[in-house]
Amino acid sequence: MTQRKPKRQKRSRSLKNPIDLEILGKHSAGILHDIANPLTVVLLALEQIKHFEKIPEIREPISLARLSAIQMKSILETASVYKKKSPSKKFCPKKELKNIILLFAYYAQEKDVHVSFSASTTEKIRGCSCSFFKAFANLIENAIDACEGISSEKTVTIMLSVRNDKMLITISDSGCGIPKGVQKDIFEPFYTTKPRGSGLGLAITKENIEKNFNGTVTYTSTEGVGTIFKILIPILPSK
Ligand SMILES: Nc1ncnc2c1ncn2[C@@H]1O[C@H](COP(=O)(O)OP(=O)(O)OP(=O)(O)O)[C@@H](O)[C@H]1O
Ligand SMILES: [Mg+2]
Repeated sequence: MTQRKPKRQKRSRSLKNPIDLEILGKHSAGILHDIANPLTVVLLALEQIKHFEKIPEIREPISLARLSAIQMKSILETASVYKKKSPSKKFCPKKELKNIILLFAYYAQEKDVHVSFSASTTEKIRGCSCSFFKAFANLIENAIDACEGISSEKTVTIMLSVRNDKMLITISDSGCGIPKGVQKDIFEPFYTTKPRGSGLGLAITKENIEKNFNGTVTYTSTEGVGTIFKILIPILPSK
């Protein structure tokens, strides 16, 4: 495989000036509240134009917009300071992953990245589906972003299978890879190399998988070749 020169723009925020988490929390709660109201209007408006779905050219954009708005609403509900515990339920990760990939279809297309998905199981897991969404949306977005600037084929492959009594989800990309020197930093809050990244994505992903699903997140990466994230989540015992 040919070596690529990855275009990495390093912008790691250090915690030399500690952030006041209480102020940050209050500020975020205000933003969540301010977004919730217009989002309800968007959902109602989309409901009103639902019958236009019969027109083939706009069927897909309307249904994508509705799916995204519903997802945003459930993220806001879970993030709400008024809700103490995330709702836990049984769900099929295959279905959930399909929806997330669908939401990223346009983003990937814009960046010329080919995303493929294969699943060999429809077993269920238990946890908050919204936390699952947030964790995997970030992993998939990161994988697509990692392909930016590379000259060879840009691919992201998502696979769902069963390993022993666990669900194994892998997200592999042919992107820039993560340099050895910073591999220990990527789960640290606020570590980012993206001009507009918050650097919170992987910290939240790890916490969501470990706390909400009793799972694990590991990865291997080679600079100039790509990265594979592996997530293991216990499967529900079938009755
Ligand atoms: N698949 C990947 N390939 C290469 N680098 C990665 C990959 N995933 C994560 N990284 C690196 O880890 C950093 C931290 O990722 P993280 O998801 O926490 O934050 P972010 O993507 O920069 O910002 P945000 O998720 O808030 O939009 C990224 O900026 C990037 O440098
Ligand atoms: Mg991210």
